[in-house]
Amino acid sequence: GNFFDICGIAEQAADIEGKARYIENGMMLLNGGTIVWLGNREEGERILADNDCTIPLDDYSEKLIIPGFIDTHIHYPQTEMIAAFGEQLLEWLDNYTFPTEAQYHDIEYAQKMSQFFIQQLLTNGTTTALVFGTVHPQSVDALFTVAAALNMRLIAGKVMMDKHAPAALLETPEQSDRDTRALIARWHNHQRLSYALTPRFVPTSSPELLEKVRLIKQDYPDIYLQTHLSENREEISWVKSLYPQHERYLDVYHHHELTGSRCVFAHCLHLEQEEWDCLSDTDSSIAFCPTSNLFLGSGLFDLKAAWQKKIRLGMGTDVGAGTTFNMLQTLAEAYKVGQLQHYRLSAFEAFYHATLGGARALHLDDKIGNFDAGKEADLVVLDPGATALQQLRAANSKTLAEKLFVLMTLGDDRNIYRTLVDGNVVYQRDN
Ligand code: GUN
Ligand code: FE
Repeated sequence: GNFFDICGIAEQAADIEGKARYIENGMMLLNGGTIVWLGNREEGERILADNDCTIPLDDYSEKLIIPGFIDTHIHYPQTEMIAAFGEQLLEWLDNYTFPTEAQYHDIEYAQKMSQFFIQQLLTNGTTTALVFGTVHPQSVDALFTVAAALNMRLIAGKVMMDKHAPAALLETPEQSDRDTRALIARWHNHQRLSYALTPRFVPTSSPELLEKVRLIKQDYPDIYLQTHLSENREEISWVKSLYPQHERYLDVYHHHELTGSRCVFAHCLHLEQEEWDCLSDTDSSIAFCPTSNLFLGSGLFDLKAAWQKKIRLGMGTDVGAGTTFNMLQTLAEAYKVGQLQHYRLSAFEAFYHATLGGARALHLDDKIGNFDAGKEADLVVLDPGATALQQLRAANSKTLAEKLFVLMTLGDDRNIYRTLVDGNVVYQRDN
C-alpha cells in the first residue's frame, strides 16, 4: 500500500511539510501490536525472505495507510443527542445534554451505548480518544470494558460536578472523590487505558470539588485532566460572577493547580493574553473542536496563536456538540475556521494535528501518532476514491498536498476502508 505520516514534532506549521513521509508501494511489518519496519516493498520482501518469514500479507495497493486518528475531546454519553437544534452552550446543556446524560445511571444502557460509541470511533478511523463519561462511575466502567476488550488506547474519566445541574446529576465533593479514586484504582494504566480527572467546567464546580481534584491529581503524577475552557461568552461572564476573586477563567483552574502537563483544555476560544501565557508556561494542552465551535456558535479558534505560544494541540470532535465522529470532516471544518481568520491550514498541518500532534498533546508521541519502528500498530486504511466525485477530483490533483487536501475536504466515513487497533482489524467497510 501507500503510506503517509509525519515523522517528527514540529515547532511551527511551516516545518510540517518537511517532516511528511510518503511511501508509494510500501510495506509495513508488524509484530503483533508493534510496528517493526516500514519501507519500500522490494526491500520488505527481501527482509522477509532473508528471515525465512512466511507471514500473511494484506494488499492495499490503491489505498492510503495513515496513523489512526486521535480525538482529544469527545463525550460518549452525548452520542444519541448529536445534532440538537437551536441553542448555544448553556441552554444546550440544560435542554439536551443533562437530560441525556441522566440516562447513564442505568448500567445496561451505558454498556449498550459504550458499544455503539466505540464502534463509531472505529468506523471513522479513530483509534485513540480522550473521552468524557457522565457523573455516574458505571458509565466509565462500561466504556473502559469495551475498550479493554479491543486493547484500545483510550483515556476517559467520570464527570465531576456538584452544582448548576439537575439534582440527579450532582454529587458531593466527597462522593466525587471516592468514586474517582475507585475508578483510578480499577482502570488507570490497565492495559492501554488511562484515567482522566474530569471536572466538567468551572460553573459546575465548587471550590471544594476543585480542591478534591487537586489532591487526587497530586497523588497520581501521570494522571490526565480534561475540562472545558473559554468556550462561550456567556459562560465566561458566568465564571467571572461565580469566582469574582479570580481575574480570568483559567485562573480558577490554575489556582487549584489544575494546569500543566497532561491537562487538556477544550475550546480556548476567547482567551486573554495572560491565559495564553499560562497555558504555555504550564505546558498544558488544547483540544481544537471546529465542528462544535461552529455548531454552537461559540467562536473561532486562533491556531496561529497556539503555534506562537508553542502549545501542545490536538483535534477534538466534541460529539455531541460536534456534528461528526469523522476526523476528515473535522479537518475540513478546521480549514474553514482558518479561512474566516485568514489562516491557511494546509493538509499536512491538518493531518499532523489529527495524528502526531494529537499524540503529543496527550504525551503519547512515544507510543502512537506515526509509523516509527517500535510504535503501537494503530492505523487506518483510507480509500481516497470512495465516491465518483472524489475519483474525478483526485484524477485532477497533482501533488500529495493537493490529494490530501481534497481527501480531507470531501472525505467522510465512506473513505475509511479498514481500521486496525493493536495490529488487529477492528473495522472493515462493507464493500
Ligand atoms: N461545557 C461544559 N459541559 C460541556 C459539554 O458537555 N459540551 C460542551 N461543548 N461544552 C461544555
Ligand atoms: Fe466538550
